[in-house]
Amino acid sequence: MKKLEHKTVFITGGLSGIGKACAIAAAKEGADIVIADRERGANIKAMDDIKAVQPAAIFIECNVSVYAEVESAVQKVISTFGTLDVALNNAGIGGKPGKIADLDMESWLKVIGIDLNGVFFCMKHELMQMEKQKKGVIVNMSSISGEVGYAKSAHYVAAKHGLLGLTQTAALEYATNGIRVNVICPGFIDTPLLNKLDLNNQPERRQIILSKHPMNRLGTSEEIAAGFIFLACDDSSFITGTALNIDGGYLAQ
Ligand SMILES: NC(=O)c1ccc[n+]([C@@H]2O[C@H](COP(=O)([O-])OP(=O)(O)OC[C@H]3O[C@@H](n4cnc5c(N)ncnc54)[C@H](O)[C@@H]3O)[C@@H](O)[C@H]2O)c1
Repeated sequence: MKKLEHKTVFITGGLSGIGKACAIAAAKEGADIVIADRERGANIKAMDDIKAVQPAAIFIECNVSVYAEVESAVQKVISTFGTLDVALNNAGIGGKPGKIADLDMESWLKVIGIDLNGVFFCMKHELMQMEKQKKGVIVNMSSISGEVGYAKSAHYVAAKHGLLGLTQTAALEYATNGIRVNVICPGFIDTPLLNKLDLNNQPERRQIILSKHPMNRLGTSEEIAAGFIFLACDDSSFITGTALNIDGGYLAQ
């Protein structure tokens, strides 16, 4: 028996990296997939990869930092599939680096708008529906930066810490409504987001990042997807309000 058979799984930021790997893993477990992402263009090819596993998968163009777009995306899930069983609030950006005194307001507001407000907007509408259904699972995508500081990334760190608080609060509020809410905290994962650091052309910087992980390597999107499937399915039926660190030991230090 597949772990997510007949479940509707909604994934934000599902056209790339971790979100795409989670979509493919959920599709392999029998789920109906809805991807919400602000990217179209070349990245829509990612939908072909997802549809190769789940032909009924659909794509909704949605910027998670725009409240009305999130509201209509969740409504589209319900009007298409009639239910929302699992939501992965994964869309996120890194933001322009800088020490706090040097961070410009535009960069701060952009990261908070997507990485924190965007997840709150999604949770609000997902929970409205899950409360009606009296069941559902939410998984938020935080980071090791949701548990410890990271120099020159105050916007990202603040947003990702916020997701742990949102997750725990939602877990408490809906624990008796059949709804579980958990959060994943990945270490550095080899995705297009990380490519922006250009580590392949900067071996010293790459080695510094690897050395922060006791396993001395980057993680893969598939390793995060395995954690997502565990939290999404009934194998984790007594787990809510938990942060799952998938980080090669980063946070154990
Ligand atoms: N890669 C890492 O090392 C790492 C580590 C810890 C946490 N994370 C988190 O995992 C999540 C996914 O990261 P990734 O590495 O797969 O990144 P990625 O850049 O490969 O993918 C992010 C996806 O989110 C989408 N997106 C960005 N802004 C959006 C918006 N406003 N509305 C809708 N979609 C939007 C992008 O179009 C893209 O498809 C992010 O929340 C990130 O913070 C990543």
